[in-house]
Amino acid sequence: MSNKISIGILGLGTVGSGIIHILENHKKELIAKTGVADVEIRKVLVRDLEKNRDGNLDSDMLTLNAEDVLEDPEIDLVIEVMGGIDEAKQHMEKALKNKKHIVTANKDLIALHGDELLEIAAANHCELLYEASVAGGIPILRSLTEGLASDRITKMMGIVNGTTNYMLSKMTREGLNYEEALQQAQDQGFAESDPTADVEGLDAARKMVILARLGFSASVQLDDVYLRGMSTVTAEDIAFGQQLGYTLKLIGLASRSDEGVEVSVEPVFIPEEHPLSAVHDEYNAVYVYGEAVGETMFYGPGAGALPTATAVVSDVVSVIRQVRLGTGKAQVAPTINEETVLKEPEDIYAKYYVRAHVHDVAGAFKRLTSVFTSNNVSFEKLIQQPLDSQDLAEVVMVTHETNRAIFEKIMDDMAGLDVVKAIKSRYRVEGGESDVPEQRDLAFV
Ligand SMILES: NC(=O)c1ccc[n+]([C@@H]2O[C@H](COP(=O)([O-])OP(=O)(O)OC[C@H]3O[C@@H](n4cnc5c(N)ncnc54)[C@H](OP(=O)(O)O)[C@@H]3O)[C@@H](O)[C@H]2O)c1
Repeated sequence: MSNKISIGILGLGTVGSGIIHILENHKKELIAKTGVADVEIRKVLVRDLEKNRDGNLDSDMLTLNAEDVLEDPEIDLVIEVMGGIDEAKQHMEKALKNKKHIVTANKDLIALHGDELLEIAAANHCELLYEASVAGGIPILRSLTEGLASDRITKMMGIVNGTTNYMLSKMTREGLNYEEALQQAQDQGFAESDPTADVEGLDAARKMVILARLGFSASVQLDDVYLRGMSTVTAEDIAFGQQLGYTLKLIGLASRSDEGVEVSVEPVFIPEEHPLSAVHDEYNAVYVYGEAVGETMFYGPGAGALPTATAVVSDVVSVIRQVRLGTGKAQVAPTINEETVLKEPEDIYAKYYVRAHVHDVAGAFKRLTSVFTSNNVSFEKLIQQPLDSQDLAEVVMVTHETNRAIFEKIMDDMAGLDVVKAIKSRYRVEGGESDVPEQRDLAFV
Protein backbone atom coordinates (compact mmCIF):
# COMPACT_ATOMS: atom_id res chain seq x y z
CA MET A 1 0.00 0.00 0.00
CA SER A 2 1.51 3.31 -1.06
CA ASN A 3 1.00 6.61 0.70
CA LYS A 4 -2.10 7.17 -1.40
CA ILE A 5 -4.98 4.75 -0.87
CA SER A 6 -7.06 3.78 -3.88
CA ILE A 7 -10.49 2.35 -3.29
CA GLY A 8 -12.83 0.41 -5.55
CA ILE A 9 -16.50 0.18 -4.64
CA LEU A 10 -18.94 -2.55 -5.67
CA GLY A 11 -22.40 -0.93 -5.61
CA LEU A 12 -23.61 2.66 -5.50
CA GLY A 13 -27.04 2.42 -3.89
CA THR A 14 -28.09 3.67 -0.46
CA VAL A 15 -24.90 2.70 1.36
CA GLY A 16 -22.55 3.25 -1.59
CA SER A 17 -23.77 6.84 -1.96
CA GLY A 18 -23.25 7.43 1.77
CA ILE A 19 -19.70 6.11 1.50
CA ILE A 20 -18.90 8.48 -1.37
CA HIS A 21 -20.33 11.34 0.71
CA ILE A 22 -18.19 10.52 3.76
CA LEU A 23 -15.02 9.84 1.77
CA GLU A 24 -15.41 13.20 0.04
CA ASN A 25 -16.70 15.34 2.92
CA HIS A 26 -14.51 13.92 5.70
CA LYS A 27 -11.39 13.58 3.58
CA LYS A 28 -9.34 15.92 5.78
CA GLU A 29 -10.21 13.96 8.92
CA LEU A 30 -9.52 10.65 7.20
CA ILE A 31 -6.11 11.81 6.06
CA ALA A 32 -5.32 13.14 9.54
CA LYS A 33 -6.44 9.90 11.19
CA THR A 34 -4.63 7.55 8.85
CA GLY A 35 -1.56 9.57 7.98
CA VAL A 36 -1.88 8.85 4.27
CA ALA A 37 -1.46 11.58 1.65
CA ASP A 38 -4.77 10.88 -0.07
CA VAL A 39 -7.73 8.51 -0.15
CA GLU A 40 -9.15 8.29 -3.67
CA ILE A 41 -12.11 6.47 -5.14
CA ARG A 42 -10.92 4.88 -8.37
CA LYS A 43 -13.79 2.81 -9.77
CA VAL A 44 -17.39 2.06 -8.79
CA LEU A 45 -19.32 -0.94 -10.08
CA VAL A 46 -23.02 -0.39 -10.87
CA ARG A 47 -25.70 -2.17 -12.89
CA ASP A 48 -27.03 0.84 -14.77
CA LEU A 49 -24.85 3.65 -16.09
CA GLU A 50 -27.80 5.82 -17.04
CA LYS A 51 -29.34 5.98 -13.56
CA ASN A 52 -29.63 9.42 -11.95
CA ARG A 53 -27.30 9.52 -8.97
CA ASP A 54 -26.84 12.02 -6.15
CA GLY A 55 -23.42 13.48 -5.45
CA ASN A 56 -20.70 14.68 -7.76
CA LEU A 57 -18.98 11.45 -8.70
CA ASP A 58 -17.34 11.62 -12.11
CA SER A 59 -19.39 9.48 -14.45
CA ASP A 60 -16.27 7.90 -15.99
CA MET A 61 -15.53 6.34 -12.62
CA LEU A 62 -18.62 4.14 -13.01
CA THR A 63 -18.29 0.75 -14.64
CA LEU A 64 -20.48 -2.20 -15.50
CA ASN A 65 -17.49 -4.51 -15.47
CA ALA A 66 -16.47 -5.94 -12.08
CA GLU A 67 -12.99 -6.76 -13.43
CA ASP A 68 -12.30 -3.01 -13.65
CA VAL A 69 -12.34 -3.04 -9.86
CA LEU A 70 -11.13 -6.54 -9.04
CA GLU A 71 -8.22 -6.66 -11.50
CA ASP A 72 -6.99 -3.07 -11.21
CA PRO A 73 -3.52 -3.33 -9.64
CA GLU A 74 -3.78 0.24 -8.36
CA ILE A 75 -6.77 -0.55 -6.14
CA ASP A 76 -5.71 -1.40 -2.57
CA LEU A 77 -9.09 -1.90 -0.96
CA VAL A 78 -12.51 -2.97 -2.21
CA ILE A 79 -15.72 -1.94 -0.50
CA GLU A 80 -18.55 -4.38 -1.23
CA VAL A 81 -21.98 -2.76 -0.90
CA MET A 82 -23.83 -4.35 -3.79
CA GLY A 83 -25.63 -6.90 -1.61
CA GLY A 84 -26.75 -10.41 -2.57
CA ILE A 85 -24.82 -13.59 -1.97
CA ASP A 86 -23.34 -15.55 -4.88
CA GLU A 87 -22.06 -12.77 -7.11
CA ALA A 88 -20.82 -10.67 -4.19
CA LYS A 89 -19.00 -13.73 -2.83
CA GLN A 90 -17.29 -14.44 -6.16
CA HIS A 91 -16.17 -10.80 -6.39
CA MET A 92 -14.85 -10.83 -2.84
CA GLU A 93 -12.93 -14.05 -3.41
CA LYS A 94 -11.35 -12.64 -6.54
CA ALA A 95 -10.46 -9.35 -4.83
CA LEU A 96 -8.84 -11.20 -1.91
CA LYS A 97 -6.87 -13.45 -4.24
CA ASN A 98 -5.68 -10.28 -5.96
CA LYS A 99 -4.43 -9.09 -2.52
CA LYS A 100 -7.05 -6.41 -2.04
CA HIS A 101 -8.41 -5.75 1.42
CA ILE A 102 -12.19 -5.87 1.77
CA VAL A 103 -14.75 -3.97 3.77
CA THR A 104 -18.37 -5.08 3.45
CA ALA A 105 -21.82 -4.33 4.89
CA ASN A 106 -23.26 -7.62 3.66
CA LYS A 107 -24.74 -9.53 6.63
CA ASP A 108 -26.40 -12.13 4.42
CA LEU A 109 -23.06 -13.12 2.92
CA ILE A 110 -21.09 -12.90 6.18
CA ALA A 111 -23.66 -14.92 8.14
CA LEU A 112 -23.55 -17.68 5.53
CA HIS A 113 -19.94 -17.67 4.29
CA GLY A 114 -18.02 -15.44 6.71
CA ASP A 115 -15.70 -18.24 7.89
CA GLU A 116 -14.71 -19.26 4.40
CA LEU A 117 -14.08 -15.67 3.30
CA LEU A 118 -12.05 -14.92 6.43
CA GLU A 119 -9.89 -17.95 5.67
CA ILE A 120 -9.29 -16.75 2.13
CA ALA A 121 -8.47 -13.30 3.49
CA ALA A 122 -5.96 -14.74 5.97
CA ALA A 123 -4.35 -16.95 3.32
CA ASN A 124 -3.83 -13.85 1.18
CA HIS A 125 -2.65 -11.66 4.08
CA CYS A 126 -5.62 -9.37 3.57
CA GLU A 127 -8.13 -7.78 5.90
CA LEU A 128 -11.86 -8.49 5.74
CA LEU A 129 -13.93 -6.22 7.99
CA TYR A 130 -17.73 -6.11 8.25
CA GLU A 131 -18.75 -3.76 11.08
CA ALA A 132 -21.71 -2.35 9.10
CA SER A 133 -23.27 -5.79 8.70
CA VAL A 134 -24.84 -5.66 12.18
CA ALA A 135 -26.83 -2.70 13.50
CA GLY A 136 -25.64 -0.20 10.86
CA GLY A 137 -24.10 2.80 12.62
CA ILE A 138 -23.59 1.13 16.03
CA PRO A 139 -19.98 -0.04 16.45
CA ILE A 140 -21.08 -3.26 18.12
CA LEU A 141 -18.66 -5.72 16.49
CA ARG A 142 -15.68 -3.59 17.49
CA SER A 143 -17.11 -3.30 20.99
CA LEU A 144 -17.35 -7.09 21.30
CA THR A 145 -13.95 -7.88 19.85
CA GLU A 146 -11.99 -4.98 21.32
CA GLY A 147 -13.79 -2.97 24.01
CA LEU A 148 -15.05 -6.08 25.80
CA ALA A 149 -12.21 -8.37 24.74
CA SER A 150 -11.17 -9.04 28.34
CA ASP A 151 -14.62 -10.10 29.49
CA ARG A 152 -16.67 -13.28 29.20
CA ILE A 153 -19.91 -12.29 27.52
CA THR A 154 -22.79 -14.54 28.54
CA LYS A 155 -25.86 -12.87 27.10
CA MET A 156 -26.78 -10.51 24.27
CA MET A 157 -30.24 -9.22 23.46
CA GLY A 158 -30.56 -7.19 20.30
CA ILE A 159 -33.12 -5.10 18.53
CA VAL A 160 -31.24 -5.49 15.28
CA ASN A 161 -33.94 -4.97 12.68
CA GLY A 162 -35.18 -1.41 12.21
CA THR A 163 -38.22 -2.32 10.09
CA THR A 164 -39.82 -4.54 12.71
CA ASN A 165 -38.93 -2.18 15.54
CA TYR A 166 -40.59 0.66 13.65
CA MET A 167 -43.71 -1.48 13.12
CA LEU A 168 -43.90 -2.68 16.73
CA SER A 169 -43.38 0.90 17.97
CA LYS A 170 -46.33 2.06 15.85
CA MET A 171 -48.47 -0.85 17.08
CA THR A 172 -47.54 -0.10 20.70
CA ARG A 173 -47.74 3.68 20.73
CA GLU A 174 -50.51 4.31 18.19
CA GLY A 175 -52.51 1.08 18.47
CA LEU A 176 -52.08 0.23 14.75
CA ASN A 177 -52.67 -3.34 13.63
CA TYR A 178 -49.97 -5.34 11.79
CA GLU A 179 -51.15 -4.43 8.27
CA GLU A 180 -51.42 -0.71 9.08
CA ALA A 181 -47.97 -0.69 10.67
CA LEU A 182 -46.45 -2.48 7.67
CA GLN A 183 -48.09 -0.01 5.28
CA GLN A 184 -46.67 2.93 7.25
CA ALA A 185 -43.22 1.35 7.32
CA GLN A 186 -43.36 0.89 3.54
CA ASP A 187 -44.64 4.45 2.98
CA GLN A 188 -41.77 5.81 5.09
CA GLY A 189 -39.16 3.70 3.27
CA PHE A 190 -38.41 1.56 6.34
CA ALA A 191 -39.78 -1.65 4.80
CA GLU A 192 -39.17 -3.25 1.42
CA SER A 193 -42.07 -4.09 -0.89
CA ASP A 194 -41.35 -7.73 0.03
CA PRO A 195 -40.86 -7.46 3.81
CA THR A 196 -40.55 -11.23 4.43
CA ALA A 197 -36.90 -11.32 5.51
CA ASP A 198 -37.55 -8.57 8.06
CA VAL A 199 -40.94 -9.57 9.50
CA GLU A 200 -40.15 -13.28 9.59
CA GLY A 201 -36.96 -12.58 11.53
CA LEU A 202 -34.44 -13.89 8.99
CA ASP A 203 -32.56 -10.60 8.74
CA ALA A 204 -32.24 -10.43 12.53
CA ALA A 205 -31.22 -14.11 12.66
CA ARG A 206 -28.31 -13.44 10.29
CA LYS A 207 -27.11 -10.62 12.49
CA MET A 208 -27.45 -12.73 15.64
CA VAL A 209 -25.30 -15.44 14.04
CA ILE A 210 -22.58 -12.84 13.51
CA LEU A 211 -22.95 -11.52 17.09
CA ALA A 212 -22.92 -14.99 18.66
CA ARG A 213 -19.84 -16.02 16.72
CA LEU A 214 -17.92 -12.89 17.71
CA GLY A 215 -19.30 -12.58 21.25
CA PHE A 216 -19.01 -16.25 22.25
CA SER A 217 -16.40 -17.54 19.75
CA ALA A 218 -19.11 -20.08 19.03
CA SER A 219 -19.64 -22.06 15.87
CA VAL A 220 -23.25 -21.00 15.31
CA GLN A 221 -24.95 -21.41 11.93
CA LEU A 222 -28.17 -19.89 10.63
CA ASP A 223 -30.00 -23.22 11.03
CA ASP A 224 -29.17 -23.18 14.75
CA VAL A 225 -31.31 -20.09 15.34
CA TYR A 226 -34.78 -20.68 16.84
CA LEU A 227 -36.88 -18.39 14.66
CA ARG A 228 -40.37 -16.91 15.02
CA GLY A 229 -41.31 -13.81 13.07
CA MET A 230 -43.70 -11.01 14.01
CA SER A 231 -46.34 -11.38 11.28
CA THR A 232 -48.85 -12.92 13.68
CA VAL A 233 -48.46 -10.26 16.38
CA THR A 234 -51.77 -8.56 17.21
CA ALA A 235 -52.62 -5.20 18.72
CA GLU A 236 -54.55 -7.10 21.45
CA ASP A 237 -51.45 -8.86 22.73
CA ILE A 238 -49.45 -5.66 22.71
CA ALA A 239 -52.22 -3.97 24.74
CA PHE A 240 -52.45 -6.85 27.24
CA GLY A 241 -48.67 -6.76 27.56
CA GLN A 242 -48.79 -3.05 28.33
CA GLN A 243 -51.45 -3.70 30.99
CA LEU A 244 -49.02 -6.16 32.57
CA GLY A 245 -46.05 -3.74 32.36
CA TYR A 246 -44.38 -5.20 29.26
CA THR A 247 -43.34 -3.99 25.80
CA LEU A 248 -43.25 -6.37 22.84
CA LYS A 249 -40.03 -6.29 20.78
CA LEU A 250 -38.53 -8.56 18.13
CA ILE A 251 -35.52 -9.68 20.12
CA GLY A 252 -32.48 -11.52 18.89
CA LEU A 253 -31.18 -13.37 21.90
CA ALA A 254 -27.87 -15.17 22.30
CA SER A 255 -26.89 -16.70 25.60
CA ARG A 256 -24.39 -19.21 26.83
CA SER A 257 -23.89 -21.25 29.95
CA ASP A 258 -22.21 -24.52 30.89
CA GLU A 259 -25.00 -26.37 29.05
CA GLY A 260 -24.26 -24.69 25.73
CA VAL A 261 -25.30 -21.83 23.49
CA GLU A 262 -28.75 -20.63 22.52
CA VAL A 263 -29.57 -18.21 19.70
CA SER A 264 -33.13 -17.17 18.94
CA VAL A 265 -35.13 -14.47 17.22
CA GLU A 266 -38.75 -14.03 18.27
CA PRO A 267 -41.19 -11.43 19.56
CA VAL A 268 -40.48 -11.17 23.28
CA PHE A 269 -42.16 -9.24 26.09
CA ILE A 270 -39.69 -7.23 28.11
CA PRO A 271 -40.42 -5.18 31.23
CA GLU A 272 -41.12 -1.55 30.38
CA GLU A 273 -38.31 -0.42 32.70
CA HIS A 274 -35.73 -2.48 30.73
CA PRO A 275 -33.51 -0.23 28.55
CA LEU A 276 -34.49 -2.14 25.39
CA SER A 277 -38.09 -1.06 25.98
CA ALA A 278 -37.09 2.53 25.30
CA VAL A 279 -35.66 1.73 21.85
CA HIS A 280 -38.31 3.10 19.52
CA ASP A 281 -39.02 3.43 15.83
CA GLU A 282 -36.29 2.36 13.40
CA TYR A 283 -33.52 2.51 16.03
CA ASN A 284 -31.43 -0.50 16.98
CA ALA A 285 -29.78 -1.49 20.24
CA VAL A 286 -27.74 -4.38 21.54
CA TYR A 287 -27.77 -5.16 25.25
CA VAL A 288 -24.68 -7.08 26.29
CA TYR A 289 -24.07 -8.81 29.60
CA GLY A 290 -20.46 -9.59 30.50
CA GLU A 291 -19.47 -11.46 33.65
CA ALA A 292 -17.08 -8.72 34.73
CA VAL A 293 -18.56 -5.58 33.22
CA GLY A 294 -22.19 -6.41 34.00
CA GLU A 295 -24.84 -4.76 31.85
CA THR A 296 -23.99 -2.52 28.88
CA MET A 297 -26.13 -1.32 26.01
CA PHE A 298 -25.19 0.02 22.58
CA TYR A 299 -27.81 2.17 20.86
CA GLY A 300 -28.10 4.00 17.55
CA PRO A 301 -29.33 4.01 13.97
CA GLY A 302 -29.39 0.51 12.55
CA ALA A 303 -29.51 1.47 8.88
CA GLY A 304 -29.56 4.39 6.47
CA ALA A 305 -27.01 5.79 4.05
CA LEU A 306 -24.78 7.83 6.36
CA PRO A 307 -24.95 5.76 9.59
CA THR A 308 -24.11 2.57 7.69
CA ALA A 309 -21.45 4.33 5.63
CA THR A 310 -19.87 5.60 8.87
CA ALA A 311 -19.31 2.01 9.95
CA VAL A 312 -17.95 1.05 6.53
CA VAL A 313 -15.52 3.98 6.35
CA SER A 314 -14.39 3.39 9.95
CA ASP A 315 -13.43 -0.12 8.84
CA VAL A 316 -11.54 1.44 5.96
CA VAL A 317 -9.66 3.63 8.46
CA SER A 318 -8.81 0.53 10.55
CA VAL A 319 -7.44 -1.28 7.51
CA ILE A 320 -5.33 1.67 6.38
CA ARG A 321 -3.91 2.23 9.86
CA GLN A 322 -3.10 -1.42 10.29
CA VAL A 323 -1.42 -1.75 6.93
CA ARG A 324 0.52 1.50 7.28
CA LEU A 325 1.62 0.90 10.85
CA GLY A 326 2.10 -2.83 10.40
CA THR A 327 0.32 -3.51 13.68
CA GLY A 328 -0.94 -7.02 12.96
CA LYS A 329 -4.61 -7.61 12.24
CA ALA A 330 -6.92 -4.61 11.90
CA GLN A 331 -9.54 -6.50 13.87
CA VAL A 332 -9.00 -9.86 15.42
CA ALA A 333 -11.68 -12.40 14.65
CA PRO A 334 -11.87 -14.87 17.55
CA THR A 335 -10.86 -18.46 17.09
CA ILE A 336 -14.17 -20.21 16.67
CA ASN A 337 -14.82 -23.19 18.93
CA GLU A 338 -15.91 -25.85 16.46
CA GLU A 339 -17.09 -28.02 19.38
CA THR A 340 -19.86 -25.58 20.29
CA VAL A 341 -22.88 -27.35 21.79
CA LEU A 342 -26.37 -25.94 21.42
CA LYS A 343 -28.58 -25.85 24.49
CA GLU A 344 -31.34 -28.46 24.63
CA PRO A 345 -34.94 -27.22 25.17
CA GLU A 346 -34.62 -28.54 28.77
CA ASP A 347 -31.80 -26.04 29.38
CA ILE A 348 -33.51 -22.94 27.99
CA TYR A 349 -35.31 -21.15 30.82
CA ALA A 350 -37.73 -18.24 30.45
CA LYS A 351 -41.05 -16.89 31.62
CA TYR A 352 -43.94 -17.14 29.19
CA TYR A 353 -47.01 -15.09 28.34
CA VAL A 354 -50.03 -17.11 27.12
CA ARG A 355 -53.42 -15.78 26.02
CA ALA A 356 -56.33 -18.18 25.57
CA HIS A 357 -60.08 -18.15 24.98
CA VAL A 358 -61.74 -20.41 27.50
CA HIS A 359 -65.38 -21.55 27.75
CA ASP A 360 -66.93 -19.63 30.63
CA VAL A 361 -68.24 -22.67 32.57
CA ALA A 362 -67.86 -23.72 36.18
CA GLY A 363 -64.45 -25.25 36.90
CA ALA A 364 -62.91 -24.21 33.57
CA PHE A 365 -60.31 -21.91 35.11
CA LYS A 366 -59.29 -24.56 37.64
CA ARG A 367 -58.81 -27.16 34.91
CA LEU A 368 -56.77 -24.70 32.88
CA THR A 369 -54.45 -23.76 35.73
CA SER A 370 -54.03 -27.38 36.81
CA VAL A 371 -52.25 -28.05 33.48
CA PHE A 372 -49.59 -25.60 34.64
CA THR A 373 -49.44 -26.60 38.30
CA SER A 374 -49.23 -30.32 37.46
CA ASN A 375 -46.05 -29.43 35.54
CA ASN A 376 -44.78 -27.46 38.56
CA VAL A 377 -45.20 -24.12 36.83
CA SER A 378 -46.88 -21.30 38.71
CA PHE A 379 -48.08 -17.87 37.62
CA GLU A 380 -46.54 -14.49 38.12
CA LYS A 381 -49.43 -12.52 36.62
CA LEU A 382 -52.98 -13.33 35.56
CA ILE A 383 -55.83 -11.50 33.85
CA GLN A 384 -59.24 -13.08 33.37
CA GLN A 385 -62.10 -11.18 31.78
CA PRO A 386 -65.34 -12.02 29.96
CA LEU A 387 -65.34 -11.71 26.18
CA ASP A 388 -68.15 -9.66 24.65
CA SER A 389 -70.02 -12.65 23.25
CA GLN A 390 -70.05 -16.41 22.93
CA ASP A 391 -69.87 -17.33 26.63
CA LEU A 392 -66.13 -17.17 26.50
CA ALA A 393 -63.55 -15.72 28.85
CA GLU A 394 -60.21 -14.28 27.88
CA VAL A 395 -57.38 -15.51 30.07
CA VAL A 396 -53.89 -14.02 29.99
CA MET A 397 -51.18 -15.67 32.04
CA VAL A 398 -47.53 -14.96 32.67
CA THR A 399 -45.70 -17.93 34.14
CA HIS A 400 -42.72 -18.04 36.43
CA GLU A 401 -39.58 -19.39 34.83
CA THR A 402 -39.74 -22.80 33.24
CA ASN A 403 -37.83 -24.57 30.53
CA ARG A 404 -38.89 -24.69 26.90
CA ALA A 405 -39.54 -28.47 26.93
CA ILE A 406 -41.97 -28.17 29.84
CA PHE A 407 -43.62 -25.13 28.34
CA GLU A 408 -44.21 -26.94 25.02
CA LYS A 409 -45.74 -29.86 26.92
CA ILE A 410 -48.03 -27.47 28.77
CA MET A 411 -49.11 -25.95 25.45
CA ASP A 412 -49.95 -29.43 24.10
CA ASP A 413 -51.84 -30.36 27.28
CA MET A 414 -53.71 -27.07 27.20
CA ALA A 415 -54.70 -27.48 23.53
CA GLY A 416 -56.21 -30.85 24.45
CA LEU A 417 -58.55 -29.42 27.13
CA ASP A 418 -62.20 -29.23 26.04
CA VAL A 419 -62.65 -26.01 28.05
CA VAL A 420 -60.00 -24.27 25.95
CA LYS A 421 -61.49 -22.93 22.70
CA ALA A 422 -58.21 -21.54 21.39
CA ILE A 423 -54.70 -20.65 22.46
CA LYS A 424 -54.56 -17.23 20.85
CA SER A 425 -50.89 -16.43 21.42
CA ARG A 426 -47.77 -17.22 23.39
CA TYR A 427 -44.63 -15.18 23.85
CA ARG A 428 -41.42 -15.51 25.75
CA VAL A 429 -40.84 -12.95 28.54
CA GLU A 430 -37.26 -11.80 29.10
CA GLY A 431 -35.24 -9.08 30.73
CA GLY A 432 -36.34 -9.30 34.35
CA GLU A 433 -33.91 -9.24 37.23
CA SER A 434 -33.65 -13.02 37.25
CA ASP A 435 -32.19 -12.84 33.73
CA VAL A 436 -29.04 -11.17 34.98
CA PRO A 437 -26.73 -14.15 35.36
CA GLU A 438 -25.55 -14.88 38.87
CA GLN A 439 -21.96 -15.83 38.09
CA ARG A 440 -20.74 -12.26 38.33
CA ASP A 441 -18.00 -12.00 40.87
CA LEU A 442 -19.57 -9.58 43.33
CA ALA A 443 -16.51 -9.56 45.58
CA PHE A 444 -14.94 -7.08 43.17
CA VAL A 445 -17.92 -4.83 42.59
N1 LIG B 1 -29.40 0.22 3.30
C1 LIG B 1 -28.98 0.13 4.54
O1 LIG B 1 -29.32 0.96 5.40
C2 LIG B 1 -28.05 -0.98 4.94
C3 LIG B 1 -27.65 -1.10 6.29
C4 LIG B 1 -26.74 -2.10 6.65
C5 LIG B 1 -26.25 -2.96 5.68
N2 LIG B 1 -26.68 -2.83 4.38
C6 LIG B 1 -26.14 -3.77 3.39
O2 LIG B 1 -25.39 -3.01 2.44
C7 LIG B 1 -25.49 -3.61 1.15
C8 LIG B 1 -25.99 -2.58 0.14
O3 LIG B 1 -27.28 -2.14 0.54
P1 LIG B 1 -27.99 -0.88 -0.19
O4 LIG B 1 -29.20 -0.60 0.62
O5 LIG B 1 -27.01 0.17 -0.45
O6 LIG B 1 -28.44 -1.57 -1.57
P2 LIG B 1 -29.01 -0.84 -2.86
O7 LIG B 1 -29.49 0.53 -2.54
O8 LIG B 1 -29.95 -1.78 -3.51
O9 LIG B 1 -27.72 -0.67 -3.80
C9 LIG B 1 -27.09 -1.75 -4.43
C10 LIG B 1 -26.08 -1.20 -5.42
O10 LIG B 1 -25.34 -2.28 -5.96
C11 LIG B 1 -25.44 -2.26 -7.39
N3 LIG B 1 -25.57 -3.65 -7.81
C12 LIG B 1 -26.37 -4.60 -7.30
N4 LIG B 1 -26.20 -5.76 -7.94
C13 LIG B 1 -25.27 -5.53 -8.87
C14 LIG B 1 -24.66 -6.33 -9.88
N5 LIG B 1 -24.99 -7.61 -10.04
N6 LIG B 1 -23.71 -5.77 -10.67
C15 LIG B 1 -23.39 -4.47 -10.53
N7 LIG B 1 -23.92 -3.65 -9.60
C16 LIG B 1 -24.85 -4.18 -8.79
C17 LIG B 1 -26.66 -1.44 -7.75
O11 LIG B 1 -26.45 -0.84 -8.99
P3 LIG B 1 -27.49 0.19 -9.66
O12 LIG B 1 -27.41 1.44 -8.80
O13 LIG B 1 -26.97 0.44 -11.02
O14 LIG B 1 -28.82 -0.47 -9.60
C18 LIG B 1 -26.69 -0.44 -6.60
O15 LIG B 1 -25.88 0.65 -6.91
C19 LIG B 1 -26.38 -4.82 1.33
O16 LIG B 1 -25.58 -5.95 1.57
C20 LIG B 1 -27.19 -4.50 2.57
O17 LIG B 1 -27.64 -5.65 3.28
C21 LIG B 1 -27.55 -1.87 3.99
